[in-house]
Amino acid sequence: MQRRDFLVDVVRLSALCAGLPNEWRLTWRPQYADNPFALGVASGDPWSAGAVLWTRVAPRPLEPHGGMPGNRPVVVWEVAEDEAFTKIVKQGRYTAAPELSYSVHVEVDGLQPDRWYFYRFQSGEAKSAIGRVRTTPADGANTPLRFGVASCANYENGLFTAYGHLANERCDLVTHLGDYIYEYGGRDQVVRSHLGREIITVDDYRLRYAQYKLEAELQAAHAMCPWLVTWDDHEVDNNYANEFGENRMESAEQMRARRAAGYQAWWEHQPVRVPRARSWADLDIRRTTNWGALARFWMLDTRQYRDDQACDDGNRTVPCGDWDNPARSILGAQQEQWLTEGLGQSRSRWQVLGQQVMVAPYDEALGPEQRVSMDQWSGYPRSRERILNAIAERAPNRTVVLTGDIHSNWVNELRAGFDRPDRPVVAAEFVGTSIASGGDGQEQTEPFKARLAELPYIKWQSGRRGYYVCDVTEREWRTDYREVPFVTRPGAPVHTVTRWRVEHGRAGITAL
Ligand SMILES: [Fe+2]
Repeated sequence: MQRRDFLVDVVRLSALCAGLPNEWRLTWRPQYADNPFALGVASGDPWSAGAVLWTRVAPRPLEPHGGMPGNRPVVVWEVAEDEAFTKIVKQGRYTAAPELSYSVHVEVDGLQPDRWYFYRFQSGEAKSAIGRVRTTPADGANTPLRFGVASCANYENGLFTAYGHLANERCDLVTHLGDYIYEYGGRDQVVRSHLGREIITVDDYRLRYAQYKLEAELQAAHAMCPWLVTWDDHEVDNNYANEFGENRMESAEQMRARRAAGYQAWWEHQPVRVPRARSWADLDIRRTTNWGALARFWMLDTRQYRDDQACDDGNRTVPCGDWDNPARSILGAQQEQWLTEGLGQSRSRWQVLGQQVMVAPYDEALGPEQRVSMDQWSGYPRSRERILNAIAERAPNRTVVLTGDIHSNWVNELRAGFDRPDRPVVAAEFVGTSIASGGDGQEQTEPFKARLAELPYIKWQSGRRGYYVCDVTEREWRTDYREVPFVTRPGAPVHTVTRWRVEHGRAGITAL
């Protein structure tokens, strides 16, 4: 079955079930009292001849169905070489559908490799903002790449100031590592409140995406360049694992229904290529993107297929319970195999793993006792060992792991076997802090510094908000960490706080 067929079937099925002839009514010249493109535009998952272009028709985004009447509005899309749209190279029509919350996903093809383009949408008289998109370099090209890395934007904890600065970085690409939204119900006494209760149904999730996507800084960052997006837990439920919810109260059926709702709304609101799946609850989002011959991005999913966290989750003294059972996996057997085999087959100069939780263990107990997070790779030590062994064998010192989740910056050297300092470093891990989650952030405490001092593979750490930017060439990888001093009030400037280098084929990360 083709990817496209799956969606067509979903659309047909929903329409048949609903039995509403109105849903089949194409509206060629829709009229809108409000801007139907209030949620902005985005592009993503680029390849050398195209990319996905995204928008959603939602004239009143915070109302049910985005304020749409249940029709099928026709949306015209255009891709041009210039911002004035005098040289249009591609255009077409897309019919938005209520079953997919009027989202628009255009897979534009037939563009030139390694080129910037401009795109926009029109429905009736209404025109969208203009977005910038670029194709990747052609297969053999070693064109340099500059990309930003972001994660974790809890709307209630802070403003999206860091997204605004990211929009000015002149990146070719942004990778987003998840926690793009948070599922919690609205609370008082926060920077700004989520609308409604904790989100569970697909309409709840849609409303939450709409609330986030109304933010101008986020729209600006999307409009700047294509994104490569994966999800973490909060796109569904905090610390969920496969079919286990955070509180372990839900049945597997309830969790699957919630996953289906969260995954569908994620797909509807992200510029991603349509994955193939049996149902929304099984949306398979792991995928690769090549940047010419320079880099291959592996966008991983450490949530959907993982075994339940060992020892009731949380931070635990290890060994405990099932913790180091070799049968346990954070990626699931199929994804592990896909990645380990793929690392051996790829000829790309750099292998880049875009994923959620920290690979290097943070041992929070002083002395020989080991106390680590059950939710990170440290909770799946044998799974981690298998991946690091594969990297050691197939792509040593040209593999870089991009990590989110933890709301703090970390620079980590990765060894196959963390209790074996005699083993060589085989990969670099750059952990990016949050955009907003955790509020303004904090300084390192003295007890925390003492713990870090026992972990020499952690080269640097910081608890402020921000993102990082990578400049990649054939010979070297540079990572610059950018931080904002506050997010609980507007106007924070951005600073580069530290810069790091990985030399292709050389073990270790060095400070610049
Ligand atoms: Fe987070």
